[in-house]
Amino acid sequence: MIQPLIDQFQRKINYLRLSITDRCDFRCVYCMNEDMTFLPRDEVLSLEESLRLVKIFTSLGVTKLRVTGGEPLVRKNIGWLFKELSQIEALKEVVLTTNGSQLVQHAPMLKNAHVNRINISLDSLDPVNFKKITRTGDLNKVLLGIDEAIQQGFSNLKLNTVLMKGINDHEAIDLVNFAIDKKMDISFIEEMPLGNIDHTRKDTFISNDEVLKNLQNYFNLIPTTFTSGGPAKYWQLANQSTKVGFISPHSHNFCDTCNRVRVSSKGELFLCLGQEEKIELMPLLRQYPNEDWPIQKAIIESMMVKPEAHDFNLEITQPAVVRFMSHTGG
Ligand code: 5AD
Ligand code: SF4
Repeated sequence: MIQPLIDQFQRKINYLRLSITDRCDFRCVYCMNEDMTFLPRDEVLSLEESLRLVKIFTSLGVTKLRVTGGEPLVRKNIGWLFKELSQIEALKEVVLTTNGSQLVQHAPMLKNAHVNRINISLDSLDPVNFKKITRTGDLNKVLLGIDEAIQQGFSNLKLNTVLMKGINDHEAIDLVNFAIDKKMDISFIEEMPLGNIDHTRKDTFISNDEVLKNLQNYFNLIPTTFTSGGPAKYWQLANQSTKVGFISPHSHNFCDTCNRVRVSSKGELFLCLGQEEKIELMPLLRQYPNEDWPIQKAIIESMMVKPEAHDFNLEITQPAVVRFMSHTGG
């Protein structure tokens, strides 16, 4: 290893979130507009370039990788990438974020590639509401995908749910019961102001404090100090294996323990989900196909511009950043 990545606030960066596509087969209302323009293919890193980048990051001390998107499983030849990733010894953990729509086909491949954990987005258990939120999604396919993943032996699946007031907040209890039934964990994520979307986020915002209070009327939730290395605060359900997590970017700031950077599908190194600082890695990858040091140098130097914190604010009409989550990587 050349030198581990440590930023100007002495935070150790050992976690890379890599978006391999900005495309998705869903159009979730909090994430995208109905009508989205996606990047032309030559502006997206090839899977070979993505793999090379992962290897470069591991040479700098990164040990955990999340493959994300858009929807990563819509990318052609995705099986090749996971197989290659499974060969990288320095990677201790490879995890995936998916909307679950293609899990039926891909769960066996993911198991063979020793993927450690899968996070599946699930915002509703009502097929009509699910369609309303995702615009194009089919709940049944996702449910079959979850069952296939369990069948393949994934024992630590996690659900991610974005709750919106008046849209799906009434489903929180059902979603927790579903997680209990499937022996999965579930995290509730406050909607973040990323990208200009069709609805006004202030109107649909519901704080995790309110969700927790509501859940406590139905469930015996015990606070824990458990961490999965991310920003979620977990509560244990009494007498169950299920943990309920809360990711609260608005009400609780978790930036002081940030251990991650993100690379978008076009090779931009983003130092913070909620800030604009970025370094373009694609031109370097293409200019230096056989030498890694210019890319390593750029990544090491980026540690000096990694911001201290995000500053999400729902009161201002502009989103915190104009990029969509599907651009930066979820
Ligand atoms: N706020 C919060 N979560 C979001 N996601 C996408 N856009 C947003 C947003 N604006 C989440 C999805 C999924 C993950 C990829 O990112 O729910 O779980
Ligand atoms: Fe696709 Fe995930 Fe965005 Fe929904 S939240 S549109 S599933 S990338």
